[in-house]
Amino acid sequence: MKAAYYESNGNLEVIKFSEDFPKPEINNNEVLVKVKASSINMIDTVMRNGYPGLQISFPHIPGGDISGEVVEVGSKVKDFKEGDRIVSFPIVLSDKQNPKFEDNPQLNFGWKFFGMHLPGGYAEYVAIPETALYKLPDNVSYEKASTLPTAGLTAIHAIDSVANLKKGDTFLVWGGSGGVGTFAIQLAKERGATVITTTSTEEKAQKLKEIGADYVYMRDDENIVEKIKENFPGGLDVVLDYVGPTTFDKSFSLLRNDGQILFCGMITGREVNLNIQQMYFRHLNICGLFLGNPKNMQDLIKLLADGKIDPYVDSVYDISNAKEAQKHFESGNYIGKIVLSF
Ligand SMILES: NC(=O)c1ccc[n+]([C@@H]2O[C@H](COP(=O)([O-])OP(=O)(O)OC[C@H]3O[C@@H](n4cnc5c(N)ncnc54)[C@H](OP(=O)(O)O)[C@@H]3O)[C@@H](O)[C@H]2O)c1
Repeated sequence: MKAAYYESNGNLEVIKFSEDFPKPEINNNEVLVKVKASSINMIDTVMRNGYPGLQISFPHIPGGDISGEVVEVGSKVKDFKEGDRIVSFPIVLSDKQNPKFEDNPQLNFGWKFFGMHLPGGYAEYVAIPETALYKLPDNVSYEKASTLPTAGLTAIHAIDSVANLKKGDTFLVWGGSGGVGTFAIQLAKERGATVITTTSTEEKAQKLKEIGADYVYMRDDENIVEKIKENFPGGLDVVLDYVGPTTFDKSFSLLRNDGQILFCGMITGREVNLNIQQMYFRHLNICGLFLGNPKNMQDLIKLLADGKIDPYVDSVYDISNAKEAQKHFESGNYIGKIVLSF
């Protein structure tokens, strides 16, 4: 089968492509999916460079996002049949489920991420347990569907489950032009919030307004905090910050009393200084979040099928050009999602 893979960690040059990679075999509880599209996430490049502390076996096939068609079903599979159009959940959930995490089963350790612990979507075929599959409505393209599992799921989890964003709320996402950011803008807008974001170029700013942002600021503007405060003197209800140390103090000072800061990434580092006194005087809420839950995934698919969100696909590369696609991703010169197709 066709597959993009690597046999050691490293820079873009380790990515190889073959048309003769061995096709996976399925277990009783799995289906074989003929992959139609897979989209690129930061985890793909982190894995390629070498995820700290994680041992993987080589050759390794990356890709956490998978959409495609079922071509074979295991004998114990109940709900899927050949020909079904599917999109995958990004992880296979742990066998051990703590009732405390009933609403968020992804919080049980022992999960396995496609493209991390399991072979991923940069391949023509993937074996997937039926518990990690969702049916795809006919009006949803494979390319758009492939953007949902990692970026879309994380954004909807942040907005619906953690922040419970409502009409009239004010919401800021730093770096709105990326995968999670473009979803967050559209989802927050759909929930009726006023959406504020930042970006790095005028061209991206224009596009983010078209996608739904009400206010877009330049991230390098030295007076960005003052400018946002001028428009929102009472402070913001919710800030989504996956940038980290370079934005944390700004996020913190922009929140209203009892406001909420959401963390789901660390683009500029993993540690910040927290002013504990400010935190309790101002009654601030700090929340971390990891991917999303199965209900978030169902809601996301429905929002897309109903035309309430429209994932922004920047560009589509054939799987044989996975190296070029990751190069494009690493340049940062894109908006939304970069998709691989077969
Ligand atoms: N916790 C989870 O479950 C989870 C799931 C998915 C992703 N993530 C994490 O979330 C983060 C975003 O993922 P993604 O797929 O959306 O990545 P992405 O597509 O690369 O987008 C990140 C955006 O951040 C902005 N940015 C970069 N450096 C910045 C800086 N110094 N200051 C302000 N903005 C900056 C860039 O936008 P501009 O050029 O417009 O500024 C870029 O488009 C990553 O750290 C990823 O690992 C976590």
